[in-house]
Amino acid sequence: MTKQQILVPVAMSVAMAFLLAVSGGLLAQAPSSEERLEGFDSGPKTIDISSYPAEMKESYKVFAARCSKCHTLARPINSDYALPDEWSRYVKRMMRKPGSGISPKEGKKIYQFLAYDSSIRKKDLIAKKKAEQKGD
Ligand code: HEC
Repeated sequence: MTKQQILVPVAMSVAMAFLLAVSGGLLAQAPSSEERLEGFDSGPKTIDISSYPAEMKESYKVFAARCSKCHTLARPINSDYALPDEWSRYVKRMMRKPGSGISPKEGKKIYQFLAYDSSIRKKDLIAKKKAEQKGD
């Protein structure tokens, strides 16, 4: 056997062991995505919008109609997304899902609603996320 024939398998098993250790560690820390989603889904399914501006009340209707087709509205309502960027990315992702039935115009209204709603309901979370971004 040449030196290379021995070294390549050895290097590969070291790399595999490393990957397994890293993924094992991550799984142990963060709840699996299924658990995360269940947590969101089991929260409140409506938002009290009585004090929101008229435009946002209209957009809430679009949000409630379009974003409850595949999962309940509780999922986005209790999600840990809060920053406008996060909502922009996620609304686009949901729009791209086959059969989502969300037009670009509706997507924009939903995004505006979610960004506004988070600025009211998720103030603390937004402050925390911004502080974390600065720390990076
Ligand atoms: C066509 C089906 C469909 C529609 C319509 C839909 N979703 Fe989803 N949504 C999913 C699926 C499937 C998941 C599971 C995780 C994934 O694919 O991101 C999900 C997951 C989510 C999550 C949790 C993501 C996470 O991992 O934290 C949020 C938040 C969310 N959707 C928000 C929305 C919003 C807001 C809308 C309306 C713009 C919407 N969804 C419309 C299918 C849909």
